[in-house]
Amino acid sequence: MNIQTLLNQRIQAAMVAAGAAESAPAIVRQSAKVQFGDYQANGIMGAAKALKMKPRDFAQATLEKLDLSDLADKVEIAGPGFINIFLKSDWLSQQLAQFRQDDRLDIKEVNAPETVVVDYSSPNLAKEMHVGHLRSTVIGDAVVRTLEFLGHMVVRQNHVGDWGTQFGMLLAYMERLRAESTEVSMVLSDLEVFYRSAKTCFDEDEAFAARARELVVSLQSGDEECLALWDEFINVSLTHCEETYQELGVSLERQHVMPESAYNDDLQNVVNELQEQGLLQESNGAQCVFMEEFANKEGEITPVIVQKTGGGFLYATTDLAAVRFRQHTLSADRVLYFVDARQALHFQQIFTLSRKAGFVKESTQLEHMPFGTVMGSDGKPFKTRSGGVAKLSELLDEAKERAYQLVAAKNPEMEEEELRNIGRVVGIASVKYADLSKNRTSDYVFNWDTMLSFEGNTAPYLLYAYSRVASIVKRSGMDVSALTTDINLLEPQERALAVKLCQFEEAIQQVANDGMPHFLCAYLYDLAGTFMTFYEACPILNAEEEVKNSRLQLAVNTASSMKLGLSLLGIETLERM
Ligand code: ARG
Repeated sequence: MNIQTLLNQRIQAAMVAAGAAESAPAIVRQSAKVQFGDYQANGIMGAAKALKMKPRDFAQATLEKLDLSDLADKVEIAGPGFINIFLKSDWLSQQLAQFRQDDRLDIKEVNAPETVVVDYSSPNLAKEMHVGHLRSTVIGDAVVRTLEFLGHMVVRQNHVGDWGTQFGMLLAYMERLRAESTEVSMVLSDLEVFYRSAKTCFDEDEAFAARARELVVSLQSGDEECLALWDEFINVSLTHCEETYQELGVSLERQHVMPESAYNDDLQNVVNELQEQGLLQESNGAQCVFMEEFANKEGEITPVIVQKTGGGFLYATTDLAAVRFRQHTLSADRVLYFVDARQALHFQQIFTLSRKAGFVKESTQLEHMPFGTVMGSDGKPFKTRSGGVAKLSELLDEAKERAYQLVAAKNPEMEEEELRNIGRVVGIASVKYADLSKNRTSDYVFNWDTMLSFEGNTAPYLLYAYSRVASIVKRSGMDVSALTTDINLLEPQERALAVKLCQFEEAIQQVANDGMPHFLCAYLYDLAGTFMTFYEACPILNAEEEVKNSRLQLAVNTASSMKLGLSLLGIETLERM
């Protein structure tokens, strides 16, 4: 049940009946303070202004057309013309009783599912995944899970970089190792080292550099031997990625890889089409598109370069081909790009050009979902202690170890195997949650102590809160899922918890609409806090039968909501820790 949507519809209809334009929004929000009720409609003032009416008069006229008696016991006008809505406790209990019916907690699939193509993770395969890939991978995956849960048809696209000039250098290095009869697979087991060694040869050895350039040409013209070598490299690199996805609990698999190289044969077509449409202009020998939208104050335009002097194609050309593929072959209604904010101009240009060239339907939404940088405590992009970029796999190992140390200190009598498992779950969850819980668009500081803290909006806090709620239910010794007695909301803390539980769907919807998982994180953190306040004020296990049964159902609903919410974020839960 999405209360906000329901109230928006009802109040807007009443506003229209009272004379407002069809397009006048009701703007219903959750109230910030209890005295303003549970929800507040803020749209009256705007609509009244358009009608040249006094806001309070228009609010009154709207109320005369509004019947919320089934779900609210008080609806009042406040301040300059807000409408405050106080929900009925009985109605809240009925909503919660519906939660019992299925493990979706009564959240329905959308009526009109969309095909949503989600471009995420998309690392460059020349190197190993590093901390910079965490955000796209983890945030993208949470949004994908949420969209699927709501019934949308999601197509994952891991747009990995496998086709740049760097590959010439890497192939030349593989060739050299072969010639020295060094076991190539051994050296490839650490891609960072491999990349660095290849780069050193490239920078210091002119013959090697020349060979590398030759190999790029052979590769791109489809030379078989060269392709075989390249295949071997790509395979190893993708296997490294997959290990990281598995460790992270990310739903990407080999079938979702749609690499840059896959578009190679279509790039000339893209350029030709732009040419036919008269969009291309030659500039210093390169093929460019100049769009006025991208002019600066001096009128200078940053062009989109689609073909270099000499015929080579670029990152942008591939992205244009990808847009066409996503529209025509994948039939996207929406395409979401979880890519670093520093590529904002690139995507604006690709989207604008795709529309001009008719590569996408008018109704198709292309959305860049930018994210900020992971920073170190020194205020610069996060690096390892030795100053290198932090490899994701090493970071995750450290997270597991640190979490293990923490839980082992708390539970000296627990078996090693269970401790290791808790350490793994908590460690991985901490890294993911630290990322997910921050507003996507801002930078954030990577800090072990804050992300592993048992206090505040962190994974350890939420996982611990979940295990506590689960253990209360377990200790009742009852099959709570079979309880069908009434849920009575008598105490204010019971009511507050019920309202919070009923707002779950609103949080999920926000994640799906805006691609921002931090809304769900904030919701879960609030829910856990609301439960703790309730639990302190309202004893469960030693209350008398009827009260106990009612409160137990609130506890079960809390546990189910937390578990489902965390699973949509891609976070595993623990029944004890
Ligand atoms: N491989 C690119 C990088 O590491 C990201 C690709 C994002 N997706 C896209 N369609 N351009 O920066």
